[in-house]
Amino acid sequence: KRIVVLISGTGSNMLNIAEHCQDNKINADVVAVIANRADAAGLAKAADLGIATEFVPHTSFADREDYDQALVERVQSYQPDLIILAGFMRVLTPVFVSAFADRIMNIHPSLLPKYKGMHTHQRALDAGDTEHGVSVHFVTEELDGGPVILQSRIPIFPEDTAEDLQERVHEQEYRIYPLVIRWFCADRLKLTEEGAVLDGALL
Ligand code: GRF
Repeated sequence: KRIVVLISGTGSNMLNIAEHCQDNKINADVVAVIANRADAAGLAKAADLGIATEFVPHTSFADREDYDQALVERVQSYQPDLIILAGFMRVLTPVFVSAFADRIMNIHPSLLPKYKGMHTHQRALDAGDTEHGVSVHFVTEELDGGPVILQSRIPIFPEDTAEDLQERVHEQEYRIYPLVIRWFCADRLKLTEEGAVLDGALL
């Protein structure tokens, strides 16, 4: 299978996934990494692994739809089976989502449906939560609202800062994102009208 990863920043999840593919732990290749920011550190890391990289600046387009159309064309040129959002900090419009329906995934650092959007670690702390976590979900037109595939929980301790939570969440991200991608690439996981289905069972 062919995977395109979209990033905006560090790209540590992208790197982890690309390494899983290169080590044959996932039956797929990351064929391109595309960023909306030139300073996304992940671009250089992907290039080091010999992966094609592209920078599609959102600042050059009049509106979100125009940007998404340009992004669709760049992504489509790699003929991906799966599109992975890994710290891609842009809301995608139906222009993008409908072009790749059923084959876009995101990882979101909260126990969805809690804390959609930004600053999830701080929001969990501010709410006095005693647990937090991360969710992998299919992307639909609703922001952070597509069917959840897998979640991992972490404890919140009284002294924790947002950075502590981010670090604890990242560890879980490196476990669950490759696992879900492995399922998808083995044709065990799909998005249906009812929701996410794994091995024939609705999740
Ligand atoms: C991750 O915490 C992910 O959950 C969120 O953005 C972060 C990306 O981190 N969507 P990295 O760029 O993969 O290091």
